[in-house]
Amino acid sequence: MKLAAEGLAKRFAGGVEALADVSIELAAGEFVSIVGPSGCGKSTLLAMLAGLLEPSAGRILLDGVAARDGVAARDGLLGRIGYMPQRDLLMEWRTTLQNATLGLELAGVARAAARERALAEVGRFGLAGFEDRRPSALSGGMRQRAALLRTFLAGRDMMVLDEPFGALDALTREAMREWLLGVWESDRKTILLVTHDVEEAVFLSDRVYVMSGRPGRIRTAVEVSLPRPRTLELTATPAFAELKARLLAPLREEARSALGSA
Ligand SMILES: Nc1ncnc2c1ncn2[C@@H]1O[C@H](COP(=O)(O)OP(=O)(O)OP(=O)(O)O)[C@@H](O)[C@H]1O
Ligand SMILES: [Mg+2]
Repeated sequence: MKLAAEGLAKRFAGGVEALADVSIELAAGEFVSIVGPSGCGKSTLLAMLAGLLEPSAGRILLDGVAARDGVAARDGLLGRIGYMPQRDLLMEWRTTLQNATLGLELAGVARAAARERALAEVGRFGLAGFEDRRPSALSGGMRQRAALLRTFLAGRDMMVLDEPFGALDALTREAMREWLLGVWESDRKTILLVTHDVEEAVFLSDRVYVMSGRPGRIRTAVEVSLPRPRTLELTATPAFAELKARLLAPLREEARSALGSA
């Protein structure tokens, strides 16, 4: 599935202008990231793409077909794109496995069948042996993988992931990146990832969009044509460092001007 956002804007009731004139594109099977300062509207953008929030202006096209105007746009998008929100939203009264199957159950898949599909994936998601634990008995990395498993199991061709590794320590993040890349390389879903982490964005992506401070706009898009499959060793190469620097320069400018205008 191909996704295009054209001129998306969002002004919330109460007047906060979160996003202004954002256009992005994802081709089928691409891994694309968005980086930008805190509060620039990244989560707002993903919620609009997932059909949970109505844009104030602009349009979203799936395979060239625009989600219709007004409330109907939500009907057109909702459920077509897998969505992992910024907080993992695991439910404490459900076990790891029951959390993973939630999306399937909501989609009408019988409980036993949903359980079977989740069980087939727990090994690959590093959750074997923890199927029947409650979320509070999982580590931070496991919680993230359980939430990712729920998103993956929902079976959409395209997924938007909002800072899936946000709350993890540096080494766990690094290991999770390599792991996510392995999953993506075998499944070839289309992924749009939001992250604060420039290194993460370069390592994972085919293209990285850099957003400005609020109201968020696309400042620049950087193509990452590093070879695949990628391993963590790539992060020590000059080509990698050069791409990182190209992303950091506009982000630093944004951070400085945010302080200057405060
Ligand atoms: N439901 C809402 N009602 C009003 N304002 C909102 C709402 N959701 C977000 N905002 C505002 O919109 C702006 C963008 O928020 P958003 O969460 O999209 O930023 P973000 O880029 O994801 O930030 P972070 O990197 O900290 O997660 C913020 O100023 C926020 O306060
Ligand atoms: Mg956010």
